[in-house]
This record gives sequence, structure tokens and C-alpha cells, in this order.
Amino acid sequence: MKILILGATGLLGKPLVREWHGDDVVGFGSRDVDIRDEARVHEIVHGARPDWIVLAAAYTDVDGCESHQELAFAVNRDGALNVARAAQSVGAKMLFISSDYVFDGKKNSPYEINDQRNPQSVYGRTKAEAELGLLQVLPDCCIARTSWLFGAGGKCFPDTILKLAANRTSLDVVNDQRGCPTYTVDLSRAIIELCRKNATGIVHVTNAGDCTWFEFASEIVKDAGLTTEVRPVSSQQMARPAPRPAYSILSATSLGQYGIEMPGWKHALRRYLEERKSAA
Ligand SMILES: NC(=O)c1ccc[n+]([C@@H]2O[C@H](COP(=O)([O-])OP(=O)(O)OC[C@H]3O[C@@H](n4cnc5c(N)ncnc54)[C@H](OP(=O)(O)O)[C@@H]3O)[C@@H](O)[C@H]2O)c1
Repeated sequence: MKILILGATGLLGKPLVREWHGDDVVGFGSRDVDIRDEARVHEIVHGARPDWIVLAAAYTDVDGCESHQELAFAVNRDGALNVARAAQSVGAKMLFISSDYVFDGKKNSPYEINDQRNPQSVYGRTKAEAELGLLQVLPDCCIARTSWLFGAGGKCFPDTILKLAANRTSLDVVNDQRGCPTYTVDLSRAIIELCRKNATGIVHVTNAGDCTWFEFASEIVKDAGLTTEVRPVSSQQMARPAPRPAYSILSATSLGQYGIEMPGWKHALRRYLEERKSAA
């Protein structure tokens, strides 16, 4: 297969390119193609003539989206639709990466693929609107919703915690948001499988298990052999511009239908820490 990855320079894009063996893969970052530029997207897609386009490009600064709404919608919704129209014009299939933030977090059992979208943040709205638009342009596209990404070679929660823990005796971390941390290497492997299995529709893809940010941080500090005290606090105590869902566990049922099982997040965290150490 011929694969075109947009967002290839990002936290997910890098391992996706690295993990994808046995197919003809080409990847681009924003310097090569700005997905807001429909003509350029068209040119790139027609040049590559891919079987699959994986769209991992996005404006991912969740708090930044609150103060840069126009940019957020231009990249995350309109850019995604530019890619979908180009995919349609060359007969390519498309896999779009979406987010748990399309949900409001008011459930207390894992979110299924057909649960109602009700985003609470601008970022979540851009993703929800992109999903709806994509399903109109390319009804057979695949929408892979994921959450709480971490991986080597970019800014992510474990990296931030390790840097802070190295210089502090204690850290305050929110304990009232529960979700599924997801290692970009495991997500990449699942995405490759989904494309090979001609996946269509919405699929939830996260590492198995769940935790709060406080529990995640505690595990990171423990696994790294640090003695920093991690203290639980509420979201109210750590106010951020964008509201986050209190509960955003994504059910693994949809992924299971493709015969794909994800490793647990604690195991994934240990592999991430090893990867980080060997890259240092
Ligand atoms: N990070 C998370 O916790 C998380 C959670 C759920 C879903 N997701 C979704 O997962 C996907 C991958 O996220 P990530 O964490 O890998 O993001 P990231 O590290 O911020 O990388 C974003 C990628 O998008 C590219 N990009 C940004 N603006 C662009 C534009 N206007 N035109 C073309 N390319 C552009 C960047 O290119 P440059 O490097 O050239 O700037 C980079 O390759 C995104 O769709 C994100 O919304 C992420």
C-alpha cells in the first residue's frame, strides 16, 4: 500500500512513520504542507496518490485553542475537510485522529463510539465538527479517537512530570480527571493494523486501563525511581483556560471488533521510560 502521513513531525507522527514497515510510506509536517491551504493539500495528495491518508496533523494546544479559536477551527476542522476532499478526489481512504475531548465527561462508564458528542472546550468542538464533516465527505473514513498521548521526542505529560520532579520535592497534580494514557508507539501499531484491516467508522484506541493525572504522575515518579512527593489536588485548584472532561475513558469494544488488543498503560509507561532513557 502507499501511505501518506500528514503531521509526520508530531508526537504521534514520528513513531507512526518509524513503526510502519512493509508499505510505501511518505510523511509531511506543516513546513511541507499546511493543511489550511486546500490547493497545496490537493497538490500533495495528487502527487502521492496514496491508498491511505493518515491525518495526524492538528493544532493540539488545548488551552491555546481557547484564545485562538479561528486558528483552531481553520486547522482542526477546515484543514481536515481539505484533506478529506483531496482523499475523495484520488479515491484514497482516510484515517483521522480524533479525541476523547469530543465528550463532556459526565458519564461514569466507558464511552462507546455512538455516545453523544458534547465537547466542553474549543479544541473538543473543532474535533467534533471535523468528525461530522468528514463523515459527510467520506462516509467510509476511519475516525480513531484517542486520549492522553505520551511518547518520546516531544512534549508530553510524563516528560513534564520528570523534568519538574528532577527539581522539586513535591508536585501538585489533579486527581478529579480520569482517562486512558496512550503510548504513541502502541497507538501507531494499532493505526497500522486498522488501515491494513480496511477499518471504517469510529474506533476508540487507547492503552488498556485508566487513571487520574495524579495516579499517572505517581506511577511516573515511582517508575523513574524518584522520591518527589506527588500530591492530589482538584481541577479547581489548578484552573486552566480549557475545561477538561472529568471522565473520558474510551471503551475498547470497537477496537476489539478488529481483533486488536492494546497493552496496559503501566506497561506502556515503562517502555516509554526505557525509550526516553536510551534516547538521552
Ligand atoms: N496529544 C494528545 O494528548 C492527544 C490526545 C487525543 C488526540 N490527539 C490527536 O492526535 C493527533 C496527533 O497529536 P500529536 O500529539 O502528535 O500532535 P503534535 O505533537 O502537536 O503534532 C502536530 C502535528 O501537526 C502538524 N501541524 C500542525 N499544524 C499544521 C498545519 N496547519 N498544517 C499541517 N500540519 C500541521 C505539526 O507539524 P510541525 O511539526 O511542522 O508543526 C505536527 O506534525 C492530533 O490529531 C491530536 O489532535 C492528541
